Amino acid sequence: MVQSAAQEQAEPRVTTINALLHTSRAALLADAAQAAGLPNALYTDPAALALERTRIFHANWLAVGHAADLPNPGDQVPVTAAGLPIVLVRGRDGALRAFHNVCGHRGLKLVDMPCRGKPTLLCPYHGWAYDLTGALRATPDFGGYGQRTAPGFNPAAHALRPVPLAEAFGGLLFVNLSGTAPPFVDWAAPLLERWRAYDFATLRHAASETCTVAANWKLVAENFCDTLHLDWVHPQVVGYSKPEDHFDIFAAPAYGTGSYNVLSPDPRAHAFTPFPNLPPELVNRGEFIFLYPGVLIFLLPNQVFSIILDPLSPDCTGERLDFAFTETPDIEAAATARAWWIEGWRHLNQQDFGVLRRLQEGRASPAFNGGCFSAAMDAVPLAVQRRVAEDLLA
Ligand code: FES
Ligand SMILES: [Fe+2]
Repeated sequence: MVQSAAQEQAEPRVTTINALLHTSRAALLADAAQAAGLPNALYTDPAALALERTRIFHANWLAVGHAADLPNPGDQVPVTAAGLPIVLVRGRDGALRAFHNVCGHRGLKLVDMPCRGKPTLLCPYHGWAYDLTGALRATPDFGGYGQRTAPGFNPAAHALRPVPLAEAFGGLLFVNLSGTAPPFVDWAAPLLERWRAYDFATLRHAASETCTVAANWKLVAENFCDTLHLDWVHPQVVGYSKPEDHFDIFAAPAYGTGSYNVLSPDPRAHAFTPFPNLPPELVNRGEFIFLYPGVLIFLLPNQVFSIILDPLSPDCTGERLDFAFTETPDIEAAATARAWWIEGWRHLNQQDFGVLRRLQEGRASPAFNGGCFSAAMDAVPLAVQRRVAEDLLA
């Protein structure tokens, strides 16, 4: 196989990352009190991110968007999934599909901007048209001017390449880029089983927004699974959700924490009715799940707030925030409460930006080498790091 100069340069660094992982594995697998975390290079080196792209983001189910963006047949949304151009499409049959977003002729990125209600995916370069199932339907002048096809040309061989897609938790869309992961319902079974009491179909999507964080995606995830910082960074939460109310959740590939006391006494917190038929023990419980490797899900008795992570570079992560609530009969109260919740979540998320940037900057220091873990408090972030190493070394 011919290697590009860039590949040749990158390979020694990938080998170095692999060697680092092998040497740090024993420390990572030690009892929590003796364990040391992933080496700095895993958070700073582009070669580490390149390795993560294929072995983690492509190999697992990755959250890439929300069904609320494609309500009707013909709606098309381009997304970048761990560096790859993908297009999400709602078909005439109402089904959502995902395709590699590249034209089979000369390789143009096919859909550049979200669009609504289109009958085809039309390439603007030479007019190839694909139907909403990805079949190639038109190849104008391909056999010469006025000739729509050429001898021996098989349109079926040039259809859009499909990517397995799944929808869950009220509209989050997941793709498996390698096509090798187990079906989503098997892959996510521990979490689907854990949350079987929640009727996510009752959620109504309210809004979405995006931002970027100056930190590696793993730091965003590890920080999300860290309850020890609540007191210091999110004091408003501790007022009603006490540290002792929190518990850890291990349901691989879901990792996270929860609280037995999640709703503040503010009446706006209770404006939306709980999910229908929720057992009494869940009506004030919240669970905060990192569904490895690409989405943070805040599940409350009356809503889901999610953050899709996009690893843009070793030190920068894109975030897409989605807010969805259960229904309430009081329309006026709902409008006020929605705005209050969204502002509260946005504020909570932004409170972490400073520590995330500083966690990233700390990874430049040779004085830090994986750090240490509290056996009592850091079990979940440690589990996340172990999962990363396990997938990279697989
Ligand atoms: S590249 Fe799409 S039609 Fe030519
Ligand atoms: Fe935080």
